[in-house]
Amino acid sequence: MTTQYQNIQVQRLTPAIGAVISGVNIADELSERTLAEIRDAFLQHLVVFFRGQSLTPEQLVAFTRKFGEIGYYPFVEGMAEHPEVVEVSKKEDETINFGGLWHTDTSYLQTPPLGSVLYASEVPEFGGDTLFANMYLAYESLSEGMKALLSGLRGVNSAEKPDAAVTRVNRIAEKPKDAADVVTTASHPLVRTHPETGRKALYCSNAHTLTIEGMRVEESRPILEYLYKVQQREEFTCRFHWQAGSVALWDNRAAQHNALNDYHGFRRVMYRVTLKGAVPE
Ligand code: SIN
Repeated sequence: MTTQYQNIQVQRLTPAIGAVISGVNIADELSERTLAEIRDAFLQHLVVFFRGQSLTPEQLVAFTRKFGEIGYYPFVEGMAEHPEVVEVSKKEDETINFGGLWHTDTSYLQTPPLGSVLYASEVPEFGGDTLFANMYLAYESLSEGMKALLSGLRGVNSAEKPDAAVTRVNRIAEKPKDAADVVTTASHPLVRTHPETGRKALYCSNAHTLTIEGMRVEESRPILEYLYKVQQREEFTCRFHWQAGSVALWDNRAAQHNALNDYHGFRRVMYRVTLKGAVPE
C-alpha cells in the first residue's frame, strides 16, 4: 500500500525501502502540510529521493533544518562558508570512495545522526548508485530465539575499523578536521527502538561494530557476521541511480546504505548534511 498525499506524489522503489517524491521544489518555502507529508513518507520509506533539484549550499542547509538540528561529522571539514556541508566525492584519479561499504552514518559517536541529506552535484556517466537497506525488516526476519538472544545486548562501535577508515582517507587528506577531542568509540544496543515509529531495528554494521559488549571477540564474531548477512539481504534493499540534482534524505536510525564504487576514471561530487540524533535506546 502506498499512502496517497495531497501535496506530493510518492513512487516506491521496492517493497522494502525507498521512494521518489515528486511535485515539490525543495528550495522553495514549503507549507506545513507539504513538510508533514514529506516527513510521513520519510518515516514510512526510510529514504526519500527528489530529482531535478537545484540547490545552493544555503538552500541545502535550510532544507535539512526543516527536519531537525544540524549534526556533526568529526573527520572532514565542511565548506569554508558553510561548515555544515561536507563534500563527499571521488575524483577521476581515485580508486577509493567515501562510504563504500554497508553502514549507518557515524554509529561510533555517542549520539549518531538521526538522518542525512545528500545532494548530487556531479555524477559519473555510468555507475555510482547507492544501495539502501531496511533494518526493521532485517530485525523482524530473525527467529524469536535470535531476537531473545539480542535483547539487551550492546555492540561496541569504532571509527577505526580499517575497511571503513580507509574510505575517508582521501577526503581527510583534502580537508582534515581536528577531531582529537572527539570520542569515536561508542556502545549502542544491537536492537534499537525508533523514537518516532516505536519499531525495532537492527543497529550494528560491518563498517563500525567491533564486538558485542561482555563477549569475547571469537564469541561475538559469528553472531555479528550472521547479522551483517541478514542486513544485506536483497529483499530488504533498494538501489538509487543518481542524476545531477538528485537529493536523498535517509533515516540512519532504521536504514543502512552503501555507495557503490563501480565508476573508476569518473568524477562524482556530492554534498552531505547530517541531522543531529539522540542516544540510541
Ligand atoms: C555516505 O555514506 O554518506 C555517502 C553515500 C554516497 O555517496 O552515496
